Amino acid sequence: MKSTARAPSNIAFIKFMGKTDENLRLPSNTSISMCLSDAITTTTVEFSPQYKNDQIDIRGDVFNNQENERIVSHLDRIRKRAKVKLFAKVATQNSFPKGSGIASSASGFAALTLAGTKACGLAIPEKELTILSRLASGSSCRSIPDGFVQWEKSTTSDDSYAYSLYPPEYWDIRDIVAVVEDKPKAVPTTSAHSLVATSRFFKARMENIDNTISLLKHALDRKDFPSFGETVENEALNMHAVLMTATPPLLYWNESTMSVIRAVWSWRLKGLRVYFTIDAGPNVHVLCEGKTEKTVVSYLKDISAIQNFSINKPAIGARVIENHLF
Ligand code: DP6
Repeated sequence: MKSTARAPSNIAFIKFMGKTDENLRLPSNTSISMCLSDAITTTTVEFSPQYKNDQIDIRGDVFNNQENERIVSHLDRIRKRAKVKLFAKVATQNSFPKGSGIASSASGFAALTLAGTKACGLAIPEKELTILSRLASGSSCRSIPDGFVQWEKSTTSDDSYAYSLYPPEYWDIRDIVAVVEDKPKAVPTTSAHSLVATSRFFKARMENIDNTISLLKHALDRKDFPSFGETVENEALNMHAVLMTATPPLLYWNESTMSVIRAVWSWRLKGLRVYFTIDAGPNVHVLCEGKTEKTVVSYLKDISAIQNFSINKPAIGARVIENHLF
């Protein structure tokens, strides 16, 4: 009863922000993302009578009690579904270092869902796997299908699932994560979801989100990079406008975030097709085409506020692999 899976993190082009049901993690809006090639979690799960409690070994990282509890709760969901009563040993390792500007909950829970269900002997179809993973961390459901992924909002759990829109090779674009701060974020994303409705701009965001989704899908469909970039950038600024006007206000950016934003805008004025998006943190995801990667990287190297960066291509989703971590 042992299995190992690897899963990528993902970057949202249309952000998941706000939940209509906190327990079921039902999102206020449909979101769209891309799986990231250089931000992978590998997880081995083994259920066995030899374990007298759940053991969680997070290699090269320290997790607090709350994070450990989230993992145990998810093991409980898996055990319930498989009617298994055994404790588990879990080992998990990230390809991206702590402080790389990418949260590990999306890749971490996607890998745990796949490895855990497989270790229990369950062969769950992709759609159901995304639903199960969503219950642990919303955005993790988008790390299971390949490439460019859509996660549907719904009023019922069974209809809020993720699926692939296009495979990774569909479009040769890059997400270069410019890390300006490597400390854990002050306000966790889960808290942000429960605060956004206090902003009066949240209603306006919800009224316009279907229009933004149509614009993005149209741009993806035509591989129209400027239109894609403008939509993604505007959508990120929209989410942050809502966060900044919540009570209490959530301002995730710092001075270095602003310096990268201004740099991206100045390069664009000079004719370079480069855009950005930002999650609930200060680090900037710089988006460009494969053909301009080298130029963008050379420009980023000149910005002193950037501590390090990682270059991501579109990637496949979660997979079972043979090499166990223990
Ligand atoms: C800003 O999926 O981390 O990154 O369900 O509480 O674990 P929980 O939230 P999470 O939220 C991600 C928010 C975001 C935007 C996005 O990835 O869509």
